Amino acid sequence: MSTVQGKMTSEDYVNMENEHGAHNYHPLGVVLKRGEGVHVWDVEGKKYYDFLSAYSAVNQGHCHPKIVGAMIDQAKRLTLTSRAFYNDSLGPYEKFVTEYFGFDKVLPMNTGAEAVETAIKLCRKWAYEKNNIAENQAQIIVCENNFHGRTTTIVSFSNDEVAKKNFGPFTPGFIRIPYNDIDALEKALQQKMLQDSWLNLFKVKQVFMFLLMAT
Ligand SMILES: Cc1ncc(COP(=O)(O)O)c(C=O)c1O
Repeated sequence: MSTVQGKMTSEDYVNMENEHGAHNYHPLGVVLKRGEGVHVWDVEGKKYYDFLSAYSAVNQGHCHPKIVGAMIDQAKRLTLTSRAFYNDSLGPYEKFVTEYFGFDKVLPMNTGAEAVETAIKLCRKWAYEKNNIAENQAQIIVCENNFHGRTTTIVSFSNDEVAKKNFGPFTPGFIRIPYNDIDALEKALQQKMLQDSWLNLFKVKQVFMFLLMAT
């Protein structure tokens, strides 16, 4: 392997990640270097269409000059404020995005897993405060073979043993049913307490925003 970065092959980069990075994901063997709009190029210069778009996080395309310009402008002006302070960007963003998508409020997240965690908390809080579910008794129905991230609560309702092994004890409060199995869903909903929790999913419209963000 060459130590000059520009001379490294895809295989060199894959080996480097395998050696120095945690093995929490298993990507395809493509090593991307550059992107523009819908296209990306690997380190050997091969061009691809990016149909995955980071699971929709890059639906706007790669390196749009207006977005890059806004990022550079912000980075030159103010690097970061913790939530200990207000800043002049969050409020205008929240106003724009809620009006644009027609939601009451927004809670921005850095990752999909955080969005799913927040959706779970919203559902439970609504169940306890609005639907009189007994404390700590809320149940959420999930489908088998889901993937929603790697936090301890999220892997608690996964059936992927690789994602769960040696990370217990797990968070209770989830009922797993097979995907696309209406009989299993009906059976799960027949329990009164569960019925109340499930209805909450349809009552809290903000929840859908978080679920959408997470998928
Ligand atoms: C469907 C789905 N949900 C949740 C996540 C977790 O997102 P993140 O890695 O940003 O926490 C992913 C990540 O690939 C995902 O594909």
